[in-house]
Amino acid sequence: MSMETPLYEGKAKSVYQTQNPDELRVVFRNDMTAFNGVKHDQFENKGRFNATASEFFMRLLEEKGVSTHFINRPDPDTMIVKKLQMIPLEVIVRNVAAGSMVKKYPIQEGTVLNPPVVAIDYKDDERGDPMINDEIIFALGILNPEELGAVKKAALRINEILSVFFDEYGIRLVDFKLEFGKAKGAIILGDEISMDSMRLWDKRTGESFDKDVYRFEKGDVMTAYRRVLERIIPGFGG
Ligand code: C5P
Repeated sequence: MSMETPLYEGKAKSVYQTQNPDELRVVFRNDMTAFNGVKHDQFENKGRFNATASEFFMRLLEEKGVSTHFINRPDPDTMIVKKLQMIPLEVIVRNVAAGSMVKKYPIQEGTVLNPPVVAIDYKDDERGDPMINDEIIFALGILNPEELGAVKKAALRINEILSVFFDEYGIRLVDFKLEFGKAKGAIILGDEISMDSMRLWDKRTGESFDKDVYRFEKGDVMTAYRRVLERIIPGFGG
């Protein structure tokens, strides 16, 4: 546990300034929360499992030409990242109807969404992360039309890359959440890509390998997270 004061403390990660003004240190903690922090627990290995996943996916995306904030992972639970000016939006891409989409709208869980659906929430815990639309994003001065276009294009490209990747490993990428930031005018992927931020279903059995295991007490959540990493990372020893 670091004695330094974090620049920012989220529900599952702490962010610290490094010696380099352009870089930050992100520590993935073992905290697990759901329903906007109402449900809260700690699980051994959780931080390093999600940091491992984030490194893995950000490297994969970088190889395919997507800019991310990832620089390196000096410790199992720690990433060094580029400092971004974070955009307060949660960009959600859905390939299959699940979660809040089936709760809010008359659509059956499991319905395939083709083309995929991009929906954006305004990131604000106190307001319960309300859904936002393009006009409200412009009215609030969060992004201009060109920047929002770049965010949506990046989100769909990331969806293509990750969907194809997971499919090869027998996993369905149901939906996921991304957060972007700006650095020198460019739109860059920030935050994390982990089992906390995606819904992953086994293609054969429909079993969940993600935070829904915790949200809805479907079994041992760390076993589910470990199974994703064991499937996709050669030699992942846990
Ligand atoms: O809850 P909902 O169905 O809207 O979530 C869509 C996807 O975005 C899920 O994969 C969920 O884990 C992720 N998400 C997230 N952080 C949030 C809201 C959603 O990672 N604050």
